Amino acid sequence: MTQARNILITSALPYANGPIHIGHLVEYIQTDIWARFQKMRGQNCWYVCADDAHGTPIMLRARQEGISPEELIARVAEEHQADFAAFRVGFDNYHSTHSEENRYFSELIYSRNRDKGHISKRMITQAYDPVEQMFLPDRFIKGECPKCGAADQYGDNCEACGASYSPAELKNPRSAVSGAVPEQRESDHYFFRLSDFEEMLKQWTRGGGLQKEVANKLDEWFDAGLQEWDISRDAPYFGFEIPDHPGKFFYVWLDAPIGYMASFKHLCDRTEGLAFDDFWGKDSDAELYHFIGKDIIYFHALFFPAMLHGADFRTPKAIFAHGFLTVDGQKMSKSRGTFIKARTYLDHLNPEYLRYYFAAKLGPGVDDIDLNLEDFTARVNADLVGKVVNIASRCAGFIGKRFGGRLSASLSEPALLSAFVEAGDPIADAYERREFGRAVREIMALADRANQYIDEKAPWVIAKQDGRDAELQDVCSMGINLFRILIGYLRPILPGTAADAETFLRVEPLSWEALSTALLDHEIAPFKPLMTRVDPKQIQAMLEASKEDLSASAAAPSSTETSNPHLERDPIGETVDFETFAKTDLRVALIRDAKYVEGADKLLQLTLDLGGETRNVFAGIRSAYEPESLVGRMTVMVANLAPRKMRFGISEGMVLAAGPGGKELFILSPDSGAEPGMKVK
Ligand code: MSP
Ligand code: ZN
Repeated sequence: MTQARNILITSALPYANGPIHIGHLVEYIQTDIWARFQKMRGQNCWYVCADDAHGTPIMLRARQEGISPEELIARVAEEHQADFAAFRVGFDNYHSTHSEENRYFSELIYSRNRDKGHISKRMITQAYDPVEQMFLPDRFIKGECPKCGAADQYGDNCEACGASYSPAELKNPRSAVSGAVPEQRESDHYFFRLSDFEEMLKQWTRGGGLQKEVANKLDEWFDAGLQEWDISRDAPYFGFEIPDHPGKFFYVWLDAPIGYMASFKHLCDRTEGLAFDDFWGKDSDAELYHFIGKDIIYFHALFFPAMLHGADFRTPKAIFAHGFLTVDGQKMSKSRGTFIKARTYLDHLNPEYLRYYFAAKLGPGVDDIDLNLEDFTARVNADLVGKVVNIASRCAGFIGKRFGGRLSASLSEPALLSAFVEAGDPIADAYERREFGRAVREIMALADRANQYIDEKAPWVIAKQDGRDAELQDVCSMGINLFRILIGYLRPILPGTAADAETFLRVEPLSWEALSTALLDHEIAPFKPLMTRVDPKQIQAMLEASKEDLSASAAAPSSTETSNPHLERDPIGETVDFETFAKTDLRVALIRDAKYVEGADKLLQLTLDLGGETRNVFAGIRSAYEPESLVGRMTVMVANLAPRKMRFGISEGMVLAAGPGGKELFILSPDSGAEPGMKVK
């Protein structure tokens, strides 16, 4: 046998200020499948992770909840780990970046780089909140978009028109923390001189450890020139103080990836025979892999390898980036109920379903993956329940009832079994290349063959005929053996189902190697159903609960979301681009005349003056306004709405009003000074 490979695998460290959701799970499930596969193949494989516990958002969140950051991250650590355990994400260690190991390595890596001249110091000007007495990260400054004027835009890009800009360009900027007008203040910052590593990084990029799309992205960054990276933040900050610079802290993204090392060190300290340097030392030939989302490539493919290299540690062998999750073709959305927390999913559905569905959809590239809920239901029911589990349930009953649970002593169809064993090589190859979708297709093709075999042999017919007992036992034993191989191949994807199947088969945890030996003259346990069908009602209930989550969490002071009955009744609509919005011509209008409409108990007839032109508009506001009270007021109208023929005449536009209806209707008025005909934009 070839020697076992030494492999260390990581997933990105989730932020400790929010719950795990199904988007995250794309990553943790993907990594876990690969780690379980490597272990099943007998490799010396370790999978570690941690919470990413530092930074301004965590500091502020704790403050908002009235607890210390330490208390917040301790609570979230428990929640995260409970969620991961329930989804059977089998970390060998789960640690925290707020740990002594991480402080040690962060200081070491920083000081080694500093001693080699890779750190420089420079004064920068930054937004400062005079009330909170803190510098403000971009995402904590809000104001009006400099391009389209949309209100309440955060940081450096506008959600309304998509423009990007520097936070200093925001109009009427405010601190999102205190509401104060930010000042510009100067402060010394420390920078990591990334460009010192250009040659090293280019070489590393070409070393074959990056996906094609990622390598292309890096080339773009090289072409644009490598910028110095600001690695310090001023107090108050939740993080590690920089050793030689009191009041200055490491930026969270400096110590976050070092958290991979800290978690592994923490594991080594508790594991006999596991040595840190064997995996992280400069000359280590262990395989080191980081699974990450495509949004954090810059940190993992540039900064981290450069810092490691500068501090005499080895660099990763490869980085595996993946795309983002969409649900039913759209970004996860709280109002649609598709922003599904891990916990909410678990309240309604079996985690094995999601592991299987993601696996079926995952490939080695960075494409986004879609959770289509109808397809999810259909696939899980057809493949897992209808094909795989069905094989066991069709055979196990006869073995139990007629043969005391005993399998035949020899195989009746050795060729079929060999075909299943030989199919293991291409399946393993697909797993190794992270082509999980291909692995699933090949396994399901085998499941079809197994079901076909049972259909042909029809054990339920044999069972009714005298003198065919041996044949019945043979057919069912074949079926159980085929099932065992299938479950073995699916084991990295379905660890829970595999464990139940191992109990039913009364076998040790299956290794890949064990699958090539058949189970003969062996007693199995009575069969219990291994998996039930997905009921579309469960999906509906999960979506409903995810919507409820929104209002429940909005009521808590900890929430950063705004919510009120209006938002719940009318969730914010789908995003439109600026062009689409700009097609609506909104104008300031003077209400010249207003009267009741004979025979219409909801309408008022308005004559709107656009400064020269007048428009006749029927507005459904009678329940809230006396006509006299409106005459002479200014309002806002849609001026280019297609005219609409009504029973009482033609309506040539629409006035804008808010509110649920009845007495609660409020027409818009412009601020004083606006004149009829002015365009609203
Ligand atoms: N804390 C950083 C990572 C530091 S690693 C040294 C972070 N945390 S995160 O909680 O925002 O995301 C953790 C991982 O989950 C990232 O790899 C991220 O790309 C991934 N995902 C988060 N949302 C996701 C989807 N909706 N879809 C797929 N993956 C997503 O980034
Ligand atoms: Zn804008």
